[in-house]
Amino acid sequence: MSTVIYTADDGTTTTIDGRPGDSIMETAVRNGVPGIVGECGGSLSCATCHVFVAPETRELAGDPGDLEDEMLDGTAVDRRDESRLSCQIKLQDGCEYHVTTPSDQL
Ligand code: FES
Repeated sequence: MSTVIYTADDGTTTTIDGRPGDSIMETAVRNGVPGIVGECGGSLSCATCHVFVAPETRELAGDPGDLEDEMLDGTAVDRRDESRLSCQIKLQDGCEYHVTTPSDQL
């Protein structure tokens, strides 16, 4: 099991137990966590799964690939250094992730 802590733009926090191998986007959508749309289902073509990765999670999440990096230029809220597309972050067993969702995804 993995744990994902989602902090919304208004500071509301939701903690979800996720399945290893699932993405942070899939875990949010499956559990009705607000703030992540995931319109394309994780095929890296919508950028509606934008999140800001907390400092303690950045090493675990890794860096975006080239295509993800390009897609991050098209997010509804401007990207930051800690931006990732959450469909590209797969949960590893026994790990805890912390992300903040932007105010808008569309
Ligand atoms: S769900 Fe579409 S790019 Fe992540």
